[in-house]
Amino acid sequence: MTAGADPAVTVDTPLTRLVGVRHPVVQTGMGWVAGSRLVGATAQAGGLGILASATMTFDELAAAITETKRRTDRPFGVNLRADAEDADRRVDLLIDHGVRVASFALAPRREQIAKLKDHGILVIPSVGAVRHAEKVASWGADAVVVQGGEGGGHTGSVATTVLLPSVVDAVDIPVVAAGGFFDGRGLAAALSYGAAGIAMGTRFLLTAESTVPEEVKRRYLERDVSGTVVTDRVDGMPHRVLRTELVERLESSGRFAGAVRALRNAVRFRALTGLSPIAMVREGLAMKRGNDLTWGQVLMAANTPMLLRSGLVDGRTDTGVLASGQVVGAVDDLPTVAELVDGVVADAAAVLRANADLVLRPA
Ligand SMILES: Cc1cc2nc3c(=O)[nH]c(=O)nc-3n(C[C@H](O)[C@H](O)[C@H](O)COP(=O)(O)O)c2cc1C
Repeated sequence: MTAGADPAVTVDTPLTRLVGVRHPVVQTGMGWVAGSRLVGATAQAGGLGILASATMTFDELAAAITETKRRTDRPFGVNLRADAEDADRRVDLLIDHGVRVASFALAPRREQIAKLKDHGILVIPSVGAVRHAEKVASWGADAVVVQGGEGGGHTGSVATTVLLPSVVDAVDIPVVAAGGFFDGRGLAAALSYGAAGIAMGTRFLLTAESTVPEEVKRRYLERDVSGTVVTDRVDGMPHRVLRTELVERLESSGRFAGAVRALRNAVRFRALTGLSPIAMVREGLAMKRGNDLTWGQVLMAANTPMLLRSGLVDGRTDTGVLASGQVVGAVDDLPTVAELVDGVVADAAAVLRANADLVLRPA
């Protein structure tokens, strides 16, 4: 990254114009990681920061939005789970607070998009397939984040280099590229594919303002590009995480032992978020309907938040799961968010200018 990058440099794209941010750089809504500190720092640095709310209770989310507004008067977003039991109440909360962007991990419902848009909130869902991008675009989404298989957390199998141009060709709303980005070359490359910006998870997790415990950040920094694995043993869905002893144990343990552990953790998470057993079953039913999951997958999905919390908040690398993109192997420092964003944008601008010089004009 460019040291002492010029913060005056920027790259103007349909994303910056749509959202009203200075730079086409998004910090994604990572559960247990993207709180008000990280989001406030990203907004102040001129990027779009997104609060992760799937791992927050309703009251915690309300407090996080208030705290983020205290830290910045610039636009920011909130990542919602469209299938959460209280999703509609959370949508109302965003409306009450005039939050600029609603991001969704799974495709939002048509009515949710319409309601948010009626109240002037931009809807930018994350998608992992062309058909999902087409669906949310036809329902009125303002932009999409498309995540390729190298990305951290829940992820698909198609690489960004193949998925991104397919989505750019398929929809006529701004497309933000995610999965595998960490520097200015990546931003320049994404813009060359026709994207309107980049969204980064792992790179923002590894910054000074990220609240992940320092010893856990060090565990990430030690990894090379083969240090992650995609496993469905955490929650039944493909999930890219650091390859740790725990993950290797989960991979080799029987399905029954996994289900028992999942149930125990699910109950713990519900206790933490104050959900009653009836609410839990109702949420499970909604999840099952919304995502076409088996009961086994629903049970395991409820398990994920506890495993991530143990690693990313409590610093228990022995009992916790550490979601991460492959890009972890390309990251070896912990810059401030401002250094990161300024460096990415300045380097992208330099690459774009240098590439323009490659084009030969007839004499
Ligand atoms: C620790 C971690 C937690 C994540 N949690 C969520 C989440 O709660 N909701 C969501 O939509 N995506 C989540 N993701 C995915 C990111 O938002 C983002 O799409 C992904 O990290 C992009 O790939 P990258 O890591 O290569 O930048 C998470 C990713 C990580 C690394």
